[in-house]
Amino acid sequence: MNHDILGRQQLYPVTIEVNGRSRRGHSTTRMLLSDYLRHELGLTGTHVGCEHGVCGACTVQLDGVACRSCLTLAVQADGRRVDTVESLAGEGGVLSELQAAFKRHHALQCGFCTAGILMSSTDWLQRLRQQGRKPSEQDVRDMLSGHLCRCTGYAPIVKALMEVADA
Ligand code: FES
Ligand code: FES
Repeated sequence: MNHDILGRQQLYPVTIEVNGRSRRGHSTTRMLLSDYLRHELGLTGTHVGCEHGVCGACTVQLDGVACRSCLTLAVQADGRRVDTVESLAGEGGVLSELQAAFKRHHALQCGFCTAGILMSSTDWLQRLRQQGRKPSEQDVRDMLSGHLCRCTGYAPIVKALMEVADA
């Protein structure tokens, strides 16, 4: 019996512009983008929790839009742009505005959920700014409903996001 009838073990070249740099690696047809980033490219800032789209820990940006990398196949990202949490800090590790606000407000404990929240929030805040809108606290809480923090430290996360949204 042919166990590889779907070509599941065959490797395909995948080239993605990751954090502004073209990166080439190999993936089976079934490899998740989250696994590709972590294991093939060594970008372990993207965390993996539930692996079925619920917790939000694996969130990255695909062509500038927040997406669950555990629900995306690596081959689907071929030829596209992916930004991970490693892209947020600037030269010499200077924290982004949002990262600095998280630090100021102690908005992380174990940090497992943090990368995903930062990537969703960065995309969301940018779109609100483009529309000239400021979110209410309820808007922030609604956006965060797509992310689970097992340490349950939501209050400082909301404060950090409100501060940046109001700036
Ligand atoms: S690991 Fe992707 S949503 Fe939980
Ligand atoms: S800070 Fe620990 S899961 Fe959110």
